[in-house]
Amino acid sequence: MQSSFEATLEYAQGLDQVDIMFPFRERFLFPQHDGKDVRYFCGNSLGLQPKSVSYLMQQELEDWARYGVEGHFQARHPWFSYHHLFTERLTKIVGAKPNEVVAANTLTVNLHLLMISFYRPQNGRYKIIMEAGAFPSDQYAVETQVRMYGYEPEDAIIEIKPREGAYIIEEEDIIAAINEAGQSLALVMIGGVNYYTGQFFDLKAITDAAHRVGAYAGYDLAHAVGNLPLQLHNWNVDFACWCSYKYLNSGPGGVGGIYVHEHHAKNPRIFRLGGWWGNSEKERFKMEKGFVPEKNAGSWQMSNAPVFNMVAHHASLDIYEKAGMAELRKKSEKLTAYMQFLLEKITHLPFTIITPTEPHRRGCQLSLLFKDRGREVFDKLTENGVIADWREPNVIRIAPVPLYNTYEDAYKFYEILAGIE
Ligand SMILES: Cc1ncc(COP(=O)(O)O)c(C=O)c1O
Repeated sequence: MQSSFEATLEYAQGLDQVDIMFPFRERFLFPQHDGKDVRYFCGNSLGLQPKSVSYLMQQELEDWARYGVEGHFQARHPWFSYHHLFTERLTKIVGAKPNEVVAANTLTVNLHLLMISFYRPQNGRYKIIMEAGAFPSDQYAVETQVRMYGYEPEDAIIEIKPREGAYIIEEEDIIAAINEAGQSLALVMIGGVNYYTGQFFDLKAITDAAHRVGAYAGYDLAHAVGNLPLQLHNWNVDFACWCSYKYLNSGPGGVGGIYVHEHHAKNPRIFRLGGWWGNSEKERFKMEKGFVPEKNAGSWQMSNAPVFNMVAHHASLDIYEKAGMAELRKKSEKLTAYMQFLLEKITHLPFTIITPTEPHRRGCQLSLLFKDRGREVFDKLTENGVIADWREPNVIRIAPVPLYNTYEDAYKFYEILAGIE
């Protein structure tokens, strides 16, 4: 694919003209710089606002004004069941069955709730494998969970690092560590796509290896959901959680998501913390004693649906439904490859792309590791109307997002970067 690319504006615009995803850009609001849309490459941090959010938000405000409490059942999208609007759509995004997913709570909260269910150390099985350099919130969650059961993180948490001189982690090293931990391993908990390097892990192989030694496998999919096609059910993943404010464009602090494989979700012996929204929907308003969890992932909900915090999710998942993960992925692979092709032409700046080059090991993020001058280059990009993402100590992350980034965006990024002395 790469050899046929060309580094010219006309060529990039030509690709946009035949791109069937191109019209989706029109559905989003772009921040402005000097009166023009910025070149936005930060969808892996905070996705853009769908234009339909304000209309859908207005509907909910009107329905609240018109119906008050009756809106729970009378609103155009009744609040009692608002979260059900997302079930079918999420199943396509994460590769799950309807009884395996729910939009609820927020990411780190969900990670804790799921670990309460799936990390129950006993009989010498208490260790957790995770990737070195995981997002800090995941590290804190895992650290405090092991402490809750009286273990020391240094003993209970096994971190898998890249090999000497490498940036990405070999799956075979994760699998070897799983085998070595054997009966002492309770859980593998990894970020499906590492936030720093953009590496996508082979979740099926890791899950299979965890199951072979009797451990559970669960994933933080913050950087994977809506970015790569997932098959959580078919891969037999035990549980997963994600946020919706990155690729899913659902706004700052937007509602999180939960997946639990149906053979656990249906199993009442899998312990879960109770709240009334996780209680059987039919029994909810009987106000009786005794938590009876729904026999699906919805039983990990705690509270009634935060409707205003779900409106952008509604807007964004409508767009995902129209675009489809398969088409998005097709464009994503090509656009990311084009971006890589362009970046490799720049030889005067001291950076290396540390994201895997193989398409099956990455989504649409490229991480540029600078030997020096990283912050200065980042600031110059910003001055020139590019929004990228700076990660200490020396990485610029860029995400050419297939829903709203264009080949022209990629070319312009290259042109601006190449112009930095
Ligand atoms: C991989 C990962 N895990 C956890 C978090 C924290 O998410 P939240 O603040 O929604 O709990 C983030 C936030 O960006 C993340 O990227």
